[in-house]
Amino acid sequence: MTKPLQDKVVMVTGASSGIGAATIAALLDVGARVIAVARRIDRLQALQKELGVGDDRVLPVKCDIRDEQQAQTLMNQALEWGGSLDGLINNAGLSRGGLLEKTQVDDLRVMLDTNIFALANLTRLATPELKKAQGTLINISSSVVHALIPGSAVYSASKAAVAAFSEVMRKELCASNARVVTIYPGMVDTEFFDGITDEKKKQSFDKLKESIDALQAEDIAEVILFALSQPGRVSLNEIVVRPTRQPI
Ligand SMILES: NC(=O)c1ccc[n+]([C@@H]2O[C@H](COP(=O)([O-])OP(=O)(O)OC[C@H]3O[C@@H](n4cnc5c(N)ncnc54)[C@H](OP(=O)(O)O)[C@@H]3O)[C@@H](O)[C@H]2O)c1
Repeated sequence: MTKPLQDKVVMVTGASSGIGAATIAALLDVGARVIAVARRIDRLQALQKELGVGDDRVLPVKCDIRDEQQAQTLMNQALEWGGSLDGLINNAGLSRGGLLEKTQVDDLRVMLDTNIFALANLTRLATPELKKAQGTLINISSSVVHALIPGSAVYSASKAAVAAFSEVMRKELCASNARVVTIYPGMVDTEFFDGITDEKKKQSFDKLKESIDALQAEDIAEVILFALSQPGRVSLNEIVVRPTRQPI
């Protein structure tokens, strides 16, 4: 049987930990060539070493995706290395602060800049290539969009923006036979929660993670792989994946 992702060129942002790192491993496992993007280049290089793959299979790129110049350089490097772009996994994202009145203005900006501005700009740069390759764009939103809980106003807003952005892009790309998939993960046990500065909120998340048996990063990587591996005519537009025991 032919492998649908063999030698396909896929870019994954936020590849230095969690869902992104697990996705890199899963993609390499099925023969894809991957561009691994994050600010912590040492983590990307360690991942490459750990997975035992050569420079022809993975291109680690240090990039702060919020920076327009760095994003442009990333895209140039990726195309020079890969020759084309079959997939873009917009996974990099973060949450900061807690209740709005207790959240620093810099935290608002970093969430909006990373979760929606950088994602939109990178997609803008990748769109001509995705159209040419009849490729797949996958955007990582969050199941919080369906739950809307206090303490996550701007994070939820940024992830709702990702969902709206995805649906518009689906309409812009479908005539080119390029797919757009939005994934809404529930709670995943990653470093994501390390960045939460509100100690009370962090503690309650830690407790919840255990009590509901949170998803593992590999669970989401499998879903990403599944969406990417479908025949070209099949577009899984929206996928919500929660831990079985997560009520909201
Ligand atoms: N964990 C959950 O429960 C959960 C639930 C729903 C949705 N999500 C979403 O899933 C995605 C992945 O999160 P995760 O759980 O895997 O968390 P994670 O382990 O903290 O990974 C976040 C990744 O984003 C990268 N990143 C952050 N800012 C960046 C920037 N400016 N430029 C480039 N890379 C940047 C980080 O790399 P560097 O720091 O090295 O740059 C890291 O690799 C995020 O979009 C998150 O919102 C997570």
